[in-house]
Parts: sequence; structure tokens; C-alpha cells
Amino acid sequence: MKTSEKDLRINKGVIRGKEIEIIVDGESVKAFEGESVAAALFANGQRISRSTTKENSLRGMYCGIGMCFECVMTIDNIPNTRTCQTFVREGMFIETQQAEGKWKTV
Ligand code: FES
Repeated sequence: MKTSEKDLRINKGVIRGKEIEIIVDGESVKAFEGESVAAALFANGQRISRSTTKENSLRGMYCGIGMCFECVMTIDNIPNTRTCQTFVREGMFIETQQAEGKWKTV
């Protein structure tokens, strides 16, 4: 399971949910039930969530409260999902989003 060299979570005096595994850009990442996707990624050192449509510039979590939409990623094939408003789930499949993302058509 991939973790950054240093887990950036506060570990003293915190009670966490069950440790789970999420898949981020094809790699296994440690998370805990009750964390937002953004928090889990931040704790594992990932700061980039997407690139912009026009200039392909990189974006990451900004407000952390669901207002700015800078943190959107493709989660379980659904683009433009706010990672700061989405709780992790075992086996969740998360991708760094390019521009507007792509919807899977059936
Ligand atoms: S960080 Fe602003 S909506 Fe998620």
C-alpha cells in the first residue's frame, strides 16, 4: 500500500476509523473511514487534483468546504466530484482529472 515517506496525519490523541485502501491514479493509498478523499490525499502528500481546461494549469484543494470546486477529481468514473465533500470508501477508484473530465458512456 502506497503511503508517502511520511504520513502527514496528526497521530496523537486522534481516534480514527478503520484503515482502508483507495486506488489513486492506479496506486493503492492508505485512508481511514471517516476521512474525506481530499484529507486522505493531502495526508499522503498529493496536492494536485486536476488541470484546467484552457491552460492546463494545476489545481488542488483550496477552500476545503465545498465552495470553490478546485478539488474536483474523477471518482468511480464520475468526473467533477468534490473530494473535500466526499468520504473515502474501501476500493474507491480516484483519478486526477484532466480539464472537464470524461463521462463513461454506456
Ligand atoms: S476545496 Fe473547495 S470545493 Fe473542495
